[in-house]
Amino acid sequence: MHRVNPATPPFLMRPFALERYLSKHEFSVRHLACASDPDTMRLDEVLALDPTARDRLLGMSLGYTETKGAPALRAAIARRYCGIEPDDVLVHVGAEEPIFTFFRSTLQPGDHVIVLTPTYQSLTSVAEALGATVSRWDAREADGWQPDPAELEALVTPKTKVLAINTPQNPTGGLLSADRFEAVCDFAAKHGLWLLGDEVYRGLEHGGPALPSVAEASARGVGLGAMAKVYGLAGLRIGWAVSRDRSRLSQMEAVKDFLSICAPGPSELLATVALEHADVFRLRALATVRSNVSLIEGLLEQFPRHLSWSRPLAGTTGFLRVLEEPASAWSQRLLDETGVLLAPSLLFDWPDTHVRVGLGRASLGAAMGVLSTWLERQ
Ligand SMILES: Cc1ncc(COP(=O)(O)O)c(C=O)c1O
Repeated sequence: MHRVNPATPPFLMRPFALERYLSKHEFSVRHLACASDPDTMRLDEVLALDPTARDRLLGMSLGYTETKGAPALRAAIARRYCGIEPDDVLVHVGAEEPIFTFFRSTLQPGDHVIVLTPTYQSLTSVAEALGATVSRWDAREADGWQPDPAELEALVTPKTKVLAINTPQNPTGGLLSADRFEAVCDFAAKHGLWLLGDEVYRGLEHGGPALPSVAEASARGVGLGAMAKVYGLAGLRIGWAVSRDRSRLSQMEAVKDFLSICAPGPSELLATVALEHADVFRLRALATVRSNVSLIEGLLEQFPRHLSWSRPLAGTTGFLRVLEEPASAWSQRLLDETGVLLAPSLLFDWPDTHVRVGLGRASLGAAMGVLSTWLERQ
């Protein structure tokens, strides 16, 4: 098992490779084909879901809001879980923020963290920047992007404080099987670890049922959610942490005082409206994702020499294996020659073998049409 970036000095943040890449291309590229957030909605479409929402929004005062989050929003979030009370919820600005507040309030330099990989870079880089060492626990493509729980015993050390899992997994679309999820919860409990569950794609299972949240399954579980992925409302910048350990949430809140302090009131109101109509958003995203999975399956049948994948089970992304050349060179040529943007796997601290495709946008059909024509010419 290799360590992530062992040379990174503590307290320096390694640039977030995917965010830097998206920042350069996302708003100028012709065909954005690697986004992890699904198609969004306009403000007036969200307001139309609740006849009182427009007047409430226009009549809002624009002062600071409650640090924990608006009571109505925390109640709407709690209703999405079993056995979770509004006081078990701490609203944040996006899901990026609670990754930081969680690690900053948990880790000391020299601590150790185990992270299910490949994943969203914050889960490794924030821990490293705080002076912790990180061990990767790699999911295996040949096993449908499942990791092997038997490997965990070899990774844990007396310094291990946290086991972090991102399931459904970005970028692979992998979803832990129920028995492996249970094994993870048991392992964390046995070693007295905090179990951080980045669950921002939970609710977008393509076929089978969702896993429980780590906050439901484990007394030391902290689950993260967001409006960005399942609901397609990334621009609201609303995310949250859920845990039955309220002292853990209080410690995270104390870190949040040094970051956003509180979430923007208009965003809180709109997020509350959206969560009260959650299935309008969730089912819309799921329909697009399912149709894009079929589209990609068709493409793979047409070009078996060029691309393959272990079919994603949940979430909005899939990880395509590039068969004939390094993925970064292949995707750069594709971008230069056609304007189709895929995200090469080096951006996810993964060998140069895959590209991430985004499955939540209706525009993927046009992008894959361009890719298909390009592949025919190769
Ligand atoms: C796994 C994962 N966690 C967290 C985030 C951050 O979410 P947000 O945009 O709500 O800050 C993302 C965004 O891509 C993600 O994929």
